Amino acid sequence: MAEKYSVAIDGPSGAGKSTLAKAAAAALGICYVDTGAIYRTIGYGVYRRGIDPSDAGAVAAVLPDMQLEMRYDQAGLQRMMLAGEDVTDQIRLPEMSRYASIVSAIPAVRDFLLELQREQARRHSVIMDGRDIGTVVLPDATVKIFLTAAPEVRAMRRFRELEQRGTSQPYDQVLREIVDRDYADTHRSIAPLRRAEDAVELDTGALTFEESLRLLLETIRRRAKL
Ligand code: DC
Repeated sequence: MAEKYSVAIDGPSGAGKSTLAKAAAAALGICYVDTGAIYRTIGYGVYRRGIDPSDAGAVAAVLPDMQLEMRYDQAGLQRMMLAGEDVTDQIRLPEMSRYASIVSAIPAVRDFLLELQREQARRHSVIMDGRDIGTVVLPDATVKIFLTAAPEVRAMRRFRELEQRGTSQPYDQVLREIVDRDYADTHRSIAPLRRAEDAVELDTGALTFEESLRLLLETIRRRAKL
């Protein structure tokens, strides 16, 4: 069996990180960890309690009671649990993107989640995606990728995805939200989104999904010497 290795994938919202990381993990037969889903779950827990997500003290106070848990189903897919309830679908509601972005800027939230994320990489070979995986969570990751695409391309992809889910929003609004979220994620003082110095940058803007996946797998295999 190959040695344990880890792949850190960071990049802005809508660059295709989750879909590509999930497909790459399946192709390589390793575990996929979607860290955005974990921040979304905290956001959802805060929303359900009616707490203002920007009230750092109030958010920090409820973290220990949230009973946040990450599980893998039989198909190997990550499920997010809050107090024993599966909230994997609820955390995808558009409003939860905003909640997740706000709570993710709270230092107590990031500290709380750090160990949970590292533990996964200690146990299994992983592909973990997020904003600070190569810089903070797994600074010694075997392979680091910074996945990106122009905001307009990402907005169009997200627009189509929302449409397919039956929760469509006007394109201009989707683009504005992406630009705002990019700004918030790259300008926050704690663990801002940035490319790790030793990360390989992949721009998927002009590529199809299949081309992006091929490029990602090639990069991982070459760097991890698989
Ligand atoms: O990838 P996503 O859209 O599901 O992430 C939701 C929010 O969580 C996003 O605004 C940034 C934040 N996030 C983060 O701060 N650090 C991570 N490792 C992953 C996500």
